[in-house]
Amino acid sequence: MLRLCNLLVLAILPTLAYTQLDDGSGFPHDYPGKPSGDFSPEWQTYFQVTDPLPNVTFPMGRNWAGNIPVDRPGHPNNTLFFWGFEKENGSLTAAANENSNEPWGIWLNGGPGSSSMIGLLFENGPLHIRNDYSMFSNNFSWDHLADYIWVDQPVGTGFSTCDEQGFVADEDQMGEDFFGFLNNLVKVFPSLKTRPLHLTGESYAGTYIPYITKTYFGMSDPPVNLTKIAIGDGSIGSGIEFEWLPMLTVIETYPQLINYDPEVYQMFKDQSHLCGFDLNLTYPQNGHFPSLNPQLPSNLDTKSIRTKKKTLIKQALMIDAQMSKRGLEVDEVRMQKRDEWKREAQRRASGGIDPTYGCDLFDELIDYALQFSFPWEGNDISAGFDVYNIPDALDPEAPMDGSVFLNDDRTRTAIHAPTSKDWVESINYPFGSTDDGGDPSVE
Ligand SMILES: *[C@@H]1O[C@H](CO)[C@@H](O)[C@H](O)[C@H]1NC(C)=O
Ligand SMILES: *[C@@H]1O[C@H](CO)[C@@H](O)[C@H](O)[C@H]1NC(C)=O
Ligand SMILES: *[C@@H]1O[C@H](CO)[C@@H](O)[C@H](O)[C@H]1NC(C)=O
Ligand SMILES: *[C@@H]1O[C@H](CO)[C@@H](O)[C@H](O)[C@H]1NC(C)=O
Ligand SMILES: *[C@@H]1O[C@H](CO)[C@@H](O)[C@H](O)[C@H]1NC(C)=O
Ligand SMILES: *[C@@H]1O[C@H](CO)[C@@H](O)[C@H](O)[C@H]1NC(C)=O
Repeated sequence: MLRLCNLLVLAILPTLAYTQLDDGSGFPHDYPGKPSGDFSPEWQTYFQVTDPLPNVTFPMGRNWAGNIPVDRPGHPNNTLFFWGFEKENGSLTAAANENSNEPWGIWLNGGPGSSSMIGLLFENGPLHIRNDYSMFSNNFSWDHLADYIWVDQPVGTGFSTCDEQGFVADEDQMGEDFFGFLNNLVKVFPSLKTRPLHLTGESYAGTYIPYITKTYFGMSDPPVNLTKIAIGDGSIGSGIEFEWLPMLTVIETYPQLINYDPEVYQMFKDQSHLCGFDLNLTYPQNGHFPSLNPQLPSNLDTKSIRTKKKTLIKQALMIDAQMSKRGLEVDEVRMQKRDEWKREAQRRASGGIDPTYGCDLFDELIDYALQFSFPWEGNDISAGFDVYNIPDALDPEAPMDGSVFLNDDRTRTAIHAPTSKDWVESINYPFGSTDDGGDPSVE
């Protein structure tokens, strides 16, 4: 039900060269030399990245990039963007049934709505961007192991394009689109049809990958040979299980989030118990895991805390500034506010589930940490609170930003990217692209 956190919550400065369609819609761009007719190995020449890429001063293996339709009826502009790198010269362009035991891989980032170019440029891809936007070759890129393809999906994500009314309705639609794309991709690179595919990803791809696998097992003649899946740091299962249930463990691991306050710890512990989050499982588990049926927050606009977080930090900074001006002890004032917050929370809970936060201990913790576990490193408001890496949130690093490189005209042309939209790291919400709810699929 809940929307999971984006992989990274960073502001992207749009470039002005193209019409900005922030929702992710757009259409693919036809570059010179585009073959006519169905996909075939002839398209390899079209997709091959041959123009120099800005700031790439090191040699790169052969690679191919561009948009490929998902072939969803009525949505001709629905495409996925891919960027693929071969392990050895000729390995990805092998003919059908050649190289037949050589694995190949696909990488997916999560979100939902986050571009897999994040993985390519900052995690496991061959070219990496530093915080000063210069680039270096990643010696540990996964294309050193196998032909590897980074795919922006679902439609609308990253450089993938989408009709305004063409976003995925749910995870099953996502799976069907993905196979529409793969069906075309293997026409361009025919050896991929039978070679063992390793489908890999992280974060919300922990939801995408099982659904893609589900679609695969429902097909009588799938276009690829899916042999392995791997998920890192995956959001598997329901949002409540993923975000709310582990909060006490998070606090126990990083007690600095609550300033080592035993009373606050006890509050979270009590709430965790009342919400049934201290599940005691056995191995082997006797039957199904017990259902979670936690109380939802009543007065809390759940989006509020995370979108409000900058305001919260700003307020804290302003209080700091005012207090310093008046010569008051800043910490003392904050401690007073914190004690008020605690008293109020204790009053609301008094033996039961806190009606304001309900069992949303995740937002309760963020709310608390943003207001009272200050200061954040360098008081950098934009760094905010990186839920993906809590120790990092306590000591944030400079933001990673792929937009300068990817939206540069030279890059865009070289990788055959769309011109109807700018690349953004994450669209708010790819299932209809409005930030107004969670994954519409059944949990
Ligand atoms: C890679 O192979 C192609 C033919 O498939 C050849 O034209 C090209 O020179 C080779 N490149 C390198 C770097 O070996
Ligand atoms: C990558 O490998 C090259 C060649 O072995 C080496 O010179 C370079 O320092 C390595 N770079 C990193 C970041 O490890
Ligand atoms: C697809 O994109 C083209 C531009 O290439 C646009 O004219 C057309 O209206 C789009 N189709 C749909 C269904 O949105
Ligand atoms: C899939 O890959 C495995 C491992 O290489 C191979 O044994 C099998 O024959 C392949 N299946 C198909 C349908 O190509
Ligand atoms: C799980 O076990 C702990 C320790 O015995 C206990 O305190 C807790 O109440 C149990 N949780 C539930 C939901 O039964
Ligand atoms: C290239 O790198 C420089 C820093 O070395 C940076 O200022 C510039 O924005 C980068 N350009 C692109 C297109 O990434």
